[in-house]
Amino acid sequence: MPKTRLYRVLIGVLAGTLIVLAVIGYDVWTAIQAEEQQAGPLAARNTGVGGPFVLIDQDGQPVTDRDFADQYMLIYFGFTYCPDICPTELAVMASAVEQLAAPQDVAPIFITVDPQRDTPAAMADYVSLFHPRMVGLTGSEAQIAEAARAYRVFYQRVESAEFEEYLMDHSSFVYLVDPEGVTRLVFPYGTGAEAMAAQIEEIMLEDRSPAGTAL
Ligand code: NI
Repeated sequence: MPKTRLYRVLIGVLAGTLIVLAVIGYDVWTAIQAEEQQAGPLAARNTGVGGPFVLIDQDGQPVTDRDFADQYMLIYFGFTYCPDICPTELAVMASAVEQLAAPQDVAPIFITVDPQRDTPAAMADYVSLFHPRMVGLTGSEAQIAEAARAYRVFYQRVESAEFEEYLMDHSSFVYLVDPEGVTRLVFPYGTGAEAMAAQIEEIMLEDRSPAGTAL
């Protein structure tokens, strides 16, 4: 084979290989892109916490999670007789909501784990101390148990030597649930209002951007 023909063949093979590699590369790249676009929201949505609830609000009206379908819910479980942790957490929630660009898009919600004492009237008095729009939800023991189970909230009545009234042991997390009913964030106790607001803002921005991807 003459040298020039060999070169031509080699160049042809090389060019062909490059084209094949380029096509494969492009496919892989677009596949990765597509996966990345899904990964963000999917990963955040897969918290496995939360679910539907049927409860009674502070006006004595039945309320379900779907009544908040045009808003985000910022949910905390506790009880009005709580000496310390609940009031602190509710104050943090209220402050976080007020730091948002669109506070009205988030409903701060307090769900009692002590429906025996936390009647709608007791809830009305209590939530108004923290935020004018805070919703106080109570219900039957069974309704509360079901809501708590959905959010994996532990609670248990305990007698205390220090206090005359019984107390409730309960887990202490704040949940951000999006308008589709998906729990997007779970804040541990001790999260500051500013940090909470910043993370909520990030989710809301992400959801508002056209492609649904992070900015
Ligand atoms: Ni508490």
